Amino acid sequence: MFGLLILLVVVDIGVRVKIYHLVVEKPLQTRFENHTKEQTEWQELRESYFYCASTEKKNWTESRKDCMSRGGDLVILNNKEKQGMIERMKIHGDSWIGLQSSDEWTAKWKWVDGTDLAYGSWRDGVNVKTEPESKAFTDQQGLWMLDKTGLKYWICEKKNVQHLGDLKPEKNISKT
Ligand SMILES: *[C@@H]1O[C@H](CO)[C@@H](O)[C@H](O)[C@H]1NC(C)=O
Ligand SMILES: *[C@@H]1O[C@H](CO)[C@@H](O)[C@H](O)[C@H]1NC(C)=O
Ligand SMILES: *[C@@H]1O[C@H](CO)[C@@H](O)[C@H](O)[C@H]1NC(C)=O
Repeated sequence: MFGLLILLVVVDIGVRVKIYHLVVEKPLQTRFENHTKEQTEWQELRESYFYCASTEKKNWTESRKDCMSRGGDLVILNNKEKQGMIERMKIHGDSWIGLQSSDEWTAKWKWVDGTDLAYGSWRDGVNVKTEPESKAFTDQQGLWMLDKTGLKYWICEKKNVQHLGDLKPEKNISKT
């Protein structure tokens, strides 16, 4: 019985190490993309998403454009696990996230993928009822606030499209 337990632990460690390689190799390669100025570094959550925090400030629209140019979008913090990841991540200051008001007459918060706001981590005292043109940002403690404009850091999120079975190393990192 004890032997079996040991075996299970060893197998478990093996799997974890493999996942670690899978997850980490890709972002390390990504780091060598020609982003000399920003020195960005993707951080991973499980094997599903990569995150990267900007080192410069832009307005919300320009921040979103930057994420899209990297094959991602502004981060969608729609559950506790992703929120926890952002709290552990080193962000440089107040950072835009992918939450904005819809432009209907009755403005509502919408994530950049079009989904409604269900989970939230608003700072106490923030009136989360939105008005048109509102954008959300997180502080370094992971509390959200809103603003209409201004320059802030931002956080991008990118889905890891590499499947566990598909282990071919990508030698040729080209943007196309
Ligand atoms: C890559 O970096 C070099 C030197 O910093 C720069 O001149 C070049 O334009 C960059 N290329 C791309 C595709 O960003
Ligand atoms: C965001 O910044 C860009 C580039 O500086 C500017 O052209 C654009 O008007 C700004 N948008 C907003 C909403 O401030
Ligand atoms: C990388 O891919 C591009 C486009 O698919 C190709 O033109 C180029 O020759 C490749 N480079 C290497 C080193 O394989």
